[in-house]
Amino acid sequence: MSTVIYYFSSTGNSLYVARELQKIIPDTELRSIVDALHENTPTVNAERIGFVFPMHYFGLPMQVERFLEKLTIMESPYIFAVVTCGVPYWGRPFIDMEKILSTKNCRVCGKWYLRLVSNYIPYRDIAADWRISVRAWLAKRKIKKIAEAVNNIDNHDTWQILRKICADYHERWKESQSQIDDNFQCNKEKCTACRLCERICPQENITCQDGYPIWHHDCVECLGCLHICPVQAIDYGEITKGRKRYRHKSVKPVDLLHTLRN
Ligand SMILES: Cc1cc2nc3c(=O)[nH]c(=O)nc-3n(C[C@H](O)[C@H](O)[C@H](O)COP(=O)(O)O)c2cc1C
Ligand code: SF4
Ligand code: SF4
Repeated sequence: MSTVIYYFSSTGNSLYVARELQKIIPDTELRSIVDALHENTPTVNAERIGFVFPMHYFGLPMQVERFLEKLTIMESPYIFAVVTCGVPYWGRPFIDMEKILSTKNCRVCGKWYLRLVSNYIPYRDIAADWRISVRAWLAKRKIKKIAEAVNNIDNHDTWQILRKICADYHERWKESQSQIDDNFQCNKEKCTACRLCERICPQENITCQDGYPIWHHDCVECLGCLHICPVQAIDYGEITKGRKRYRHKSVKPVDLLHTLRN
């Protein structure tokens, strides 16, 4: 039985989960949502289709929303989704996803949150190492259960609480898109002109001029640039100064780049 898993990931949590599922679910192909968005008419024809991505502001990352709208789904596959997050259940990613997929006569049969580490450091610092280890251990067990359910084509639902408040937050966030990257700043004394920030950006929203990044107001706030910078030259206003940066320990920086991947 063929399976395609689409993933979106800026600090590696969702990529890690997609890779772990691929190890357990036979005949599984992984596809990057960012790469697929570059296709004119992304199309998938598989018996099982999975989507693995982070929760952004209690809902879908903007790029995932655009991709679901653009995707053509052939036949009537079993569809499942795994949403990685710092705090599960608060939010409505699956409701928003189903709304889009219902226009293509598809429904999401398996829905799971997977708690890992929140990379949203404008809100608070990265969790302590011991907490990251505990969550990693629990996540590994849950991934096995998810894979078993997918292998058995089981239905699985999950809580999605405070839907109305979460929808309002999410909509306000999307409306602020053109101003989001006004918050980013680069410390030129620290920057080594490595251009990793430019290469990780899923929106091609960064260009390096004289070696330093410039943001062009088409940001989806994935925070990839902020976390990948090896010398912590990028900050989000003053609030992220002194806070840790994050990447899932099994994922290399090169795995997260979108241009000049090799
Ligand atoms: C813009 C943004 C908003 C986020 N909003 C939430 C949220 O509402 N709830 C939550 O639990 N985590 C939130 N997070 C944290 C991520 O969902 C979490 O760290 C995720 O596992 C990151 O996956 P990735 O490493 O594959 O990008 C947010 C992260 C970002 C960048
Ligand atoms: S500018 Fe940074 S935060 Fe915005 S989309 Fe690009 S990588 Fe993500
Ligand atoms: S990733 Fe950091 S060091 Fe590299 S170019 Fe961007 S800001 Fe400079």
